[in-house]
Amino acid sequence: MSESYFQETANAPETPEDLTLRPPGFEDFHGQEKVTERLMLMVAAAKGRNDVLEHVLLSGPPGLGKTTLANIVASAVGTSLHTTSGPQIEKAGDLAGILTNLQRGDILFIDEIHRLHPAIEEYLYPAMEDFRLDIIIDSGPSARSIQLQLPKFTLLGATTRSGMLTSPLRSRFGLINRLDYYTKEQLAVIILRSAEILKLSIDEEGALVVASRSRGTPRIANNLLRWVRDYAQVKADSHINSAVAQSALQMIEIDHDGLDQMDKRILESMIYKFNGGPVGLSSLAVATGEDASTLEEVHEPFLIMEGFVKRTPRGRVAMPAAYHKIGAPLPPHSETELDL
Ligand SMILES: Nc1ncnc2c1ncn2[C@@H]1O[C@H](COP(=O)(O)OP(=O)(O)O)[C@@H](O)[C@H]1O
Ligand SMILES: [Mg+2]
Repeated sequence: MSESYFQETANAPETPEDLTLRPPGFEDFHGQEKVTERLMLMVAAAKGRNDVLEHVLLSGPPGLGKTTLANIVASAVGTSLHTTSGPQIEKAGDLAGILTNLQRGDILFIDEIHRLHPAIEEYLYPAMEDFRLDIIIDSGPSARSIQLQLPKFTLLGATTRSGMLTSPLRSRFGLINRLDYYTKEQLAVIILRSAEILKLSIDEEGALVVASRSRGTPRIANNLLRWVRDYAQVKADSHINSAVAQSALQMIEIDHDGLDQMDKRILESMIYKFNGGPVGLSSLAVATGEDASTLEEVHEPFLIMEGFVKRTPRGRVAMPAAYHKIGAPLPPHSETELDL
């Protein structure tokens, strides 16, 4: 196991077991009430008018349920979901191929939509707005543009980096939803549901221990639960209580607050190598040996949410909680205090 447990789980491909844990309908999807209420309303309204659902954007850190919601929306609408992702669409022809295969009312799910090539994005605008595709064939003097009429479809975009979306693209979505981290209690409910599907014996305290170390993220909760299951099977007659869950998670070096070794290394670098900051993302990436996008998408949001790190215009700053976490003395006139 590498030092970043969470980076591995964020990027791991889906297993068949993941699919069995994925809630099939709104009623099984716990949490994110505002988002699910809006989506259910949109679906009901579109169905009532016999119309096609508006374009929807889902944003938020990895593992919070964007892909799951895309599937739920498609099944609530009663239509098929065509799945692709920003980096997969390399040429205008790829996009044309996908769009011309859609039927009226179909949902096109573009994951990591912030990674769409800018030239491809340009083609997407008229497709989203007027269901029209202008493509240029040939080049030089013989180049001509042809127009294709598309069936009315729904674009469902997902992004971990809504800030990287261009404003013309963003403005073409009828509804923009941001998913937030889940509370410990919500995660415990999700864990108990997963445990039931996996036929595990777990009590509520055991579920809460796993929940409190899952960084507000259902995908992590499910992954930790599977690790705890293995541990319990070998060491505890397969029953998961609070003590068993704690020893299992200790074995993979995830602490009480859900921090892994990489999180701690980030805090240590900030404090010991950069005097607590402010430090830029790329310097931090070099110092920790982790790539900048993993730091920014996987580790930083959680460290910020939990108050270990603060983002300032001049860079990232270690907060008192970070000094406390790694047992370093607070500097006398720290940047953190000046900023507060
Ligand atoms: N609200 C939820 N309730 C129950 N399970 C969830 C929920 N959100 C996500 N999950 C679980 O977490 C996993 C990751 O969700 P996913 O939709 O793939 O996240 P994202 O696409 O945002 O990275 C899914 O396999 C699903 O089992
Ligand atoms: Mg996804």
